[in-house]
Amino acid sequence: MTDVIKTISEVKSRLDDYRRQAGKKVALVPTMGFFHVGHLSLMRTARQDCGLVVVSIFVNPAQFAPTEDLEAYPRDLARDLELAGRENIDLVFSPDPAEMYPEGFDTYIDPSHINDTLCGQGRPGHFRGVATIVAKLFNIISPDRAYFGQKDAQQAAVIRRMVKDLDYDIDIRVCPIVREFDGLAMSSRNAYLTADERAQAPVLHQALLAAREAVAHGERDASKIRRLMRRTIGQNYLVEFEYARIVDPETMESVAVLDREALAAVAATVGKARLIDNLMIAP
Ligand code: PAJ
Repeated sequence: MTDVIKTISEVKSRLDDYRRQAGKKVALVPTMGFFHVGHLSLMRTARQDCGLVVVSIFVNPAQFAPTEDLEAYPRDLARDLELAGRENIDLVFSPDPAEMYPEGFDTYIDPSHINDTLCGQGRPGHFRGVATIVAKLFNIISPDRAYFGQKDAQQAAVIRRMVKDLDYDIDIRVCPIVREFDGLAMSSRNAYLTADERAQAPVLHQALLAAREAVAHGERDASKIRRLMRRTIGQNYLVEFEYARIVDPETMESVAVLDREALAAVAATVGKARLIDNLMIAP
């Protein structure tokens, strides 16, 4: 089982020791725990690339709105530590909320423009919470590289932008989406789905495949592709459509005509689970 460390001072001093001893490259994989194969794939890539791999597990209150699922968010630290151990993770950093947000905490990182679209619209304040916690983790761990999943494409874009804007000397790696056998993107929130909901959830991926297919057949009008995705998702009575967009993969700004590679991104709520998915589509 991997060691678990609860305080900022201890994780810093342990990392200083490691760095002095070995001059190893340090990888950080930030997570909220309740691991699935998507998380493990980031750990495996980090393990291959770097001498020292730190995984953080922290369900970050700052990225949940008061109406969202902070309390219900699935947690199982013992299982996560067991899985991290099997992946040969060197350190797991799992602080309590009061360690990360002590009383009087008052400074946030607020992404501006990139926040105005996709999940930024449906979840105001979400990326402010994400950017703030990731900046704190970067400052505490000082990794050489940090690993994120393409599943949360907008999150990865927010982090890349933050690293540029705030001059972090950290190499951001974005790893491919890991899916279930039927195309559903793995997510800790899939645990909320009932059997009926689970059966309909792959429709997000199906909508993205339909978009890709339409583009392969010559469609270039983004609004038509959006409508197609919306129709596909809307066919399922347990699925509540939120958005379907074609965006620039870096800025997340909407694209009107598909004259270059773009990202198709969808979001929908299925039962208690808000699900997102995306796919690169090229003309
Ligand atoms: P969490 O949802 O636990 O995800 C941790 C990392 O795993 C993220 O980079 C996410 O994109 C990646 N991931 C999730 N599902 C994936 C899948 N199916 N395939 C590939 N990668 C996947 O994202 C967060 O936590 C938080 O917002 C965090 C960055 C930790 C900040 O609190």
